[in-house]
Amino acid sequence: MKRTTSSKEIVLGVTGSIAAYKACEIASRLVESGYAVTPALTASAQELVGSATFEALTGRRVITGMFDPLASPDIEHIAVAQRAALFLIAPATANIIAKAARGIADDWLSTTLLATRAPILFAPAMNTNMYNHPATQENIEILKSRGCAFVGPGSGRLACGTVGLGRMVHVPRILEAVEIALHETKDLAGLFVVLTAGGTREPIDPVRFIANRSSGKMGRALAMEALKRGARVAIIAGHMDVPPPEGAEVIVAETAKDMAEVALSLAQDADVFVGAAAVGDFRVQNPSSDKHKRSEKGLEINLIENPDVISQVGALRRDGQIVVGFAAETADLIKNAKTKIKQKQLDLIVANQVGVEDSGFGTETLRACFIDSKGTVEELDLSTKEEVATLLFDRVSDLLD
Ligand code: CTP
Repeated sequence: MKRTTSSKEIVLGVTGSIAAYKACEIASRLVESGYAVTPALTASAQELVGSATFEALTGRRVITGMFDPLASPDIEHIAVAQRAALFLIAPATANIIAKAARGIADDWLSTTLLATRAPILFAPAMNTNMYNHPATQENIEILKSRGCAFVGPGSGRLACGTVGLGRMVHVPRILEAVEIALHETKDLAGLFVVLTAGGTREPIDPVRFIANRSSGKMGRALAMEALKRGARVAIIAGHMDVPPPEGAEVIVAETAKDMAEVALSLAQDADVFVGAAAVGDFRVQNPSSDKHKRSEKGLEINLIENPDVISQVGALRRDGQIVVGFAAETADLIKNAKTKIKQKQLDLIVANQVGVEDSGFGTETLRACFIDSKGTVEELDLSTKEEVATLLFDRVSDLLD
C-alpha cells in the first residue's frame, strides 16, 4: 500500500476468531501506511490475543469494553464513532456479523457499529458451515444492502481441521479493501469497467508457448483504481505476475482468440473498456498435440495473425461507451500511437515507451503520454503505474460526463 501522510482514523475491531493474531499484522501495516489505528478487542478476542501487542503496534490505548476504567471521560463509543474514517472488523466472526445486521448492541464494538456513519468493512473468518449457514448468509446480505463492504472469506485449511470457505483473506487483500473503502471519489459508481491485462500465451505444443514480457502490473493498477472509484470491474486476464485485486471479477483468457471472445461478450455491457494487455499479434497455425522432440533436429513454426481485440471492441462500440488502448512503442511513440488511435477507433490511447530501463514491461514506472481522438497529446512526467491509472481514469471520467 502506498505511504500516505493521512492520519485518518481506522477503528480495527478484532473479534474472537483464531485469525485474531493476523490482526496484529493488519494493525502494523495500517500504521506504517500513515493511519491512526484504534484497536477494539471484544471479550473473546482478548482470550486469543493480548492488548499489549496492539498497544505497542498502534501506540494507542486498546478499547476492551464499555466500562473500561481507563476510558476517557467523554462518551467514548460516540466520540470514536464520529471521528473514525472507517471501521475494519478483522477477523469478523459470525457473531459480530449477526449483531451488526440485527442492530444488537451488547458490547463496545457492536454498540459503536450502530452509532457510526463511517464505512464498515468486514473480513469474515469462521468455519465453513457457519459461513454457509442461511442465517449468516442472510446477515451478510442485509449488511451489504446497507452499504457495508466485505473482503473474503477465502478457501483453505481452517483451524477446525476442515478445508473450505471461511478463512480470513491474506493481509494484503484486506489492505487493498481498506484503500477501496476509504477512497473518497466514487465517480465510477454504477459503471462497469472491463479491462484486458497481462500477456497472452500462444501454444506451440502442449508444453511450450509464445509469450511476452507483460507482468500485468499496469492492468492491476487500472483495476484497483476503477474499484476505488466505485466501479464494478472485470479483468480479462492473460498471464499476470501479480495477483488481481480483491473485488474484481477475473476471467482467464490465455490466448488472443480466447481474449477476443470474452472481450466481445463483456464489452456489450461495459461502460468503459481498457485494453491494457500485451496481446500476441501472431499464433502458431498448427500447434502440435504432441511435444516436439529434440530428435526433430530443427523446427519451423508457421505464425498467422491473431484478432486485434481492442479494434474489434472499438468497431462495435455503443454510444457513450469509452474505449481506451495502450500503445507500446520502442520508437516514434507519438506518431505510431496516433495511427493506432484511429485504426482501432479509440477515445484515448496511453502511449508508452518500452524497452528502456524505467518504462515498459515489468517496470514499476512508465514514460507515457495520453493522446485523445482529436490528436491532443498530454505528456506525463515519469510516473508509477498507479499514478498513470489515476490520471487515466480522471480523463475517462471527464469523457463520461
Ligand atoms: N491489442 C489488442 N489485440 C491485439 C494487439 C493489440 O487488443 N492483437 C491492443 C493492446 O491491448 C493495446 C493496443 O492494442 O491496447 C496496442 O497494442 P500494441 O502492442 O502497442 O500494438 P499492435 O496493435 O500490436 O501493433 P504493433 O505490434 O504493430 O505495434
